[in-house]
Amino acid sequence: MNKPLPPSQSKEFSLSDQDFEKVAEFAHKNFGLAMSSSKKPLVSSRLARRLRQLNITDFQSYIKQLDGPNAGQERNELLSLLTTNVTHFFREPHHFDTLRDETLPPLLEQARRGGRVRIWSAGCSTGQEPYSIAMLLRSMCPEVSNLDVKILGTDIDPVVVNTAKAAKYQLDDLAQLPKEYKPKDLTGDTMPDNIRSMITFGTLNLIEPFPFKGKFDAIFCRNVAIYFDTPTQQKVWSAFQKALNPGGYLFIGHSERMSGPAATHLTTAGVTTYINNPT
Ligand SMILES: C[S@@+](CC[C@H](N)C(=O)[O-])C[C@H]1O[C@@H](n2cnc3c(N)ncnc32)[C@H](O)[C@@H]1O
Repeated sequence: MNKPLPPSQSKEFSLSDQDFEKVAEFAHKNFGLAMSSSKKPLVSSRLARRLRQLNITDFQSYIKQLDGPNAGQERNELLSLLTTNVTHFFREPHHFDTLRDETLPPLLEQARRGGRVRIWSAGCSTGQEPYSIAMLLRSMCPEVSNLDVKILGTDIDPVVVNTAKAAKYQLDDLAQLPKEYKPKDLTGDTMPDNIRSMITFGTLNLIEPFPFKGKFDAIFCRNVAIYFDTPTQQKVWSAFQKALNPGGYLFIGHSERMSGPAATHLTTAGVTTYINNPT
């Protein structure tokens, strides 16, 4: 935890409207984030903390650090400051009920007949979402590791992607996993190998064109697009719709809304749940 600063130091940085605009423009162009002026106090205090860590005394010098060939690391730091990585296992459980009762049974049938099943957790943060999907799959189909069923977990932030790959979690969080999904061989703090082997993790910025050839049977993109402005959200929804097989499912976050051209190709199938129409 950061120590509270003495009053003489706490006001040493001031983010002018112009500097805020520059940060907001940078975040929009590079990460798709929408930052209205109401976010200025939050951005200002989080950035001030970062400047102190870096021993930089003004925002303009900081903004300069975000450009240039070696700026990657600082861009990621900025993204982490502006967004949250909060996630947990089986978050928004109604989506996992739909996955268990409606989405997966025909897909597992398809996989047992030799077919391929692909599920994407887009904006997966530290991995609890794709691991929840993997645990659910294995509870429904113990032999799933022998089938062509794969999960992809991606996030723009390489730090959270590395945490997800490590598959190590707080024992308290693992103790709260629903009994029916908790793998019997999960005894310590690390996900068992047969769960880990179902998931591939990678970094991916959702506002850039997707690099995949094949399509997905289900896409989870929850509590990510909430940071995007409406045009960016609609672009991302359309890209997901095009990346889904006919009949594929799209799950979005509880405070996100489907809109734009994608909405005409998707049928509502429950709360924040959509099915891609057959073409
Ligand atoms: C609140 S977490 C959501 C995690 C999980 N989907 C859930 O609902 O529990 C939001 C994640 O979105 C990621 N993110 C933000 N902007 C992104 C972008 N442009 N492309 C990909 N991921 C992004 C953040 O790094 C963060 O890990």
